[in-house]
Amino acid sequence: SKKQRIAVLAGDGIGKEVMPEGIRVLEAAAKRFDLPLEMQHFDWAHCDYFAQHGQMMPDDWKAQLQGFDAILFGAVGWPATVPDHVSLWGSLLKFRREFDQYINLRPVRLFDGVPCPLAGRKPGDIDYYVVRENTEGEYTALGGIMFEGTDREMVLQEAVFTRKGADRLLKFAFDLAQSRSKKHVTLATKSNGIAISMPWWDKCAEAMAKNYPDVVLDKQHIDILTARFVLQPGRFDVVAATNLFGDILSDLGPATTGTIGLAPSANLNPERNFPSLFEPVHGSAPDIYGQKIANPIAMVWSVALMLDFLGNGQGAWRQAHDAIVDAISQTILSGPRTPDLGGQAKTDDVGQAIAQLLA
Ligand code: NAD
Ligand code: IPM
Ligand code: MN
Repeated sequence: SKKQRIAVLAGDGIGKEVMPEGIRVLEAAAKRFDLPLEMQHFDWAHCDYFAQHGQMMPDDWKAQLQGFDAILFGAVGWPATVPDHVSLWGSLLKFRREFDQYINLRPVRLFDGVPCPLAGRKPGDIDYYVVRENTEGEYTALGGIMFEGTDREMVLQEAVFTRKGADRLLKFAFDLAQSRSKKHVTLATKSNGIAISMPWWDKCAEAMAKNYPDVVLDKQHIDILTARFVLQPGRFDVVAATNLFGDILSDLGPATTGTIGLAPSANLNPERNFPSLFEPVHGSAPDIYGQKIANPIAMVWSVALMLDFLGNGQGAWRQAHDAIVDAISQTILSGPRTPDLGGQAKTDDVGQAIAQLLA
């Protein structure tokens, strides 16, 4: 069958430490399941490149990446040298928007053996997806600052929601819920305070729900929703959210399952007009970079999501996904653990343990 082509960009900070473990596991899985794939590494989309070139990526970045089936991404950002909005708008946010990766799928799961910060929770009690809108919403560069430095200084920042953008996000969320046993969609809203866009989102969701008679729609304001992520995580199944709300929820959710060092994400263009991008939820973690103690599991799980996507959820690709997730579970339960999970292992100890289980 056709070779799947993967572009690899490690990025900054611990992106450079977890990516080799992701690749180690990817290679082990490819070998064991005989997956036809090839990787190509790109040494840009990081802040050292910016220091040399005054921009995050070469001008022809899009042409260079366009033909790939997937992008495997580490993390970008080094605020000590490049302002975050410059590095992120110059790389990751460009990928998401230019490659129309409008779904950001972020699973949240409590694994057996993880010290859970929520009292009395066991595996199975926390098992949901954040389905985050990934190309519009609150993330814009529309607006400006006026009268700067005077007592009339003001700033305006627009949010943009399109009907197409809302409907395709909601459709994905309802389809996902339909395929699961709970069949439940929570919409993260704020229609009490944000008086135009959020009531509009509520209506879009209600309209979409009509097409899914066996899926329950539960609209929750974002404030109480965050409280329930902590107090009643078992309520959730599929959580649909705008770009900013989804960003916040997808750090909070994994934190309730022990550490954000486990959390993967899939930035999807479901139509496959462009490459989709797979990356940890976390960032470059300047505070621990260099110690080689970053948890590589978020990266490794992202590799699993990538393989599942490349194989359309079928055959050897699906088996490879399942085997990686099993190896992750087993390693969390009885293998080496990085400090964020209470252990003393290094990044590569964990990567090696997972790869060995796959061999
Ligand atoms: P962060 O996710 O990098 O780190 C937050 C905290 O979590 C830190 O204490 C860090 O040590 C810890 N942490 C993160 N990943 C970990 C892992 N794998 N194992 C163990 N501990 C881990 O968030 P931040 O500090 O807000 O951001 C740092 C930089 O990363 C900024 O430049 C930010 O813009 C960028 N960032 C990038 C992405 C991305 O590329 N997708 C995501 C988030 C933040
Ligand atoms: C994430 C990150 C990014 C986001 C930042 C780095 C722009 O936090 O992938 O969750 O907000 O989307
Ligand atoms: Mn985030």
